[in-house]
Amino acid sequence: MSGIYIHIPFCKQACNYCDFYFSTSLQNKEFLVKNILSEIDQRINYLPDKQIHTIYFGGGTPSLLSEKETFLILEKVYKLYKVSNDAEITLECNPDDLNEEKLKELKRLEINRLSIGLQSFDEEELKWMNRAHTARESESSIKRSQDRGFENITIDLIYGSKFSNLANWKKTLDKTIALKVPHISSYNLTIEDKTKLGHDFKVKKEVAIDDEKSSELFLEMIDRLEKNDFIHYEISNFGKEGFFSRHNSNYWKGEHYLGLGPSAHSFDGKSRQWNVANNNLYIKQVSENNQAFFEKEILTEKERFNEYILTSLRTIWGINLDYLKTNFNAEFVKVFQEQIAEYIRQDTVVVKNKTYTLTEKGKLLADKIASELFV
Ligand SMILES: C[S@@+](CC[C@H](N)C(=O)[O-])C[C@H]1O[C@@H](n2cnc3c(N)ncnc32)[C@H](O)[C@@H]1O
Ligand code: SF4
Repeated sequence: MSGIYIHIPFCKQACNYCDFYFSTSLQNKEFLVKNILSEIDQRINYLPDKQIHTIYFGGGTPSLLSEKETFLILEKVYKLYKVSNDAEITLECNPDDLNEEKLKELKRLEINRLSIGLQSFDEEELKWMNRAHTARESESSIKRSQDRGFENITIDLIYGSKFSNLANWKKTLDKTIALKVPHISSYNLTIEDKTKLGHDFKVKKEVAIDDEKSSELFLEMIDRLEKNDFIHYEISNFGKEGFFSRHNSNYWKGEHYLGLGPSAHSFDGKSRQWNVANNNLYIKQVSENNQAFFEKEILTEKERFNEYILTSLRTIWGINLDYLKTNFNAEFVKVFQEQIAEYIRQDTVVVKNKTYTLTEKGKLLADKIASELFV
């Protein structure tokens, strides 16, 4: 179940919280796409299996690409790989880009899943985030996409800023449900060092909300969304039956993927590779056919084990004992079984059919439990 990720490192403006790699200068866009095409050629042997089930344009803001630019990338992928007929093809979009013309273009390109970054329905909060759209534009972009025939839509929300409280979060969730989208990714705001928010936090111009309050918002979200037929299939992801993100589910299940473009990561089962997070350097090194545009790390057994624990524990598929026994040494498995027994006693983990998953209480402590289970 291999996938291809393409990172489009451009944004109209910088959101105050975001530390993904992007540039607000669009000057090199066309040239960068040319180099992504070249990277596709250079890395043709990365995935031994040429069958591709998912393609994901992420960013940055992929909806800033012109039709021709997106087409050229897809054309090349289709030429060099066997893309399955029912492949999931996602493109991340910012609401302000989704006018009628853009939507027609995305249909022509046969993009069949839109990931739209709404983040919030509160005008003041959107301004504080430095988003390029209003709440009204967010809502209308969803309606327009649905009217244009896009059924498989996911939206991104962020909760836990200083604007969040239980009352307005309930309203946000109700508005989200009323949009009738089949998938929601909802992230607890992280204050990242190298962002405006990180800076303002450091100089005490901004504060973080406490963990207790964000746990309350998280539990409210699970409750409301589950009551409305959403399945909480990963800590930050909710989908209706048949609408889970196939691309991201494959990451969490340890499937292989090729990541193209600046800052993109790749995984082939044994090693991880990450491209340089700098547009100019990427262009220079790829155009010189110089392998220095990426770094590579062969994963040790310990690293593979820890990654499996971290990603699996966050999903409804959980940690499977047979998988551990087949893929890791007996000592790691023995220590895991001893440790996990304590979490079962504390009612943060349950075990069924040799598979360990988090209880609701456990979901509040997901990262802590995973790190305690690391070898
Ligand atoms: C890198 S963005 C790309 C999507 C698109 N550019 C957009 O902004 O809608 C992917 C998602 O990550 C989430 N995100 C980014 N930085 C975050 C942070 N510091 N805390 C929580 N969520 C964050 C946002 O919800 C965002 O939509
Ligand atoms: S959240 Fe999206 S639009 Fe905002 S800076 Fe990050 S990638 Fe760009």
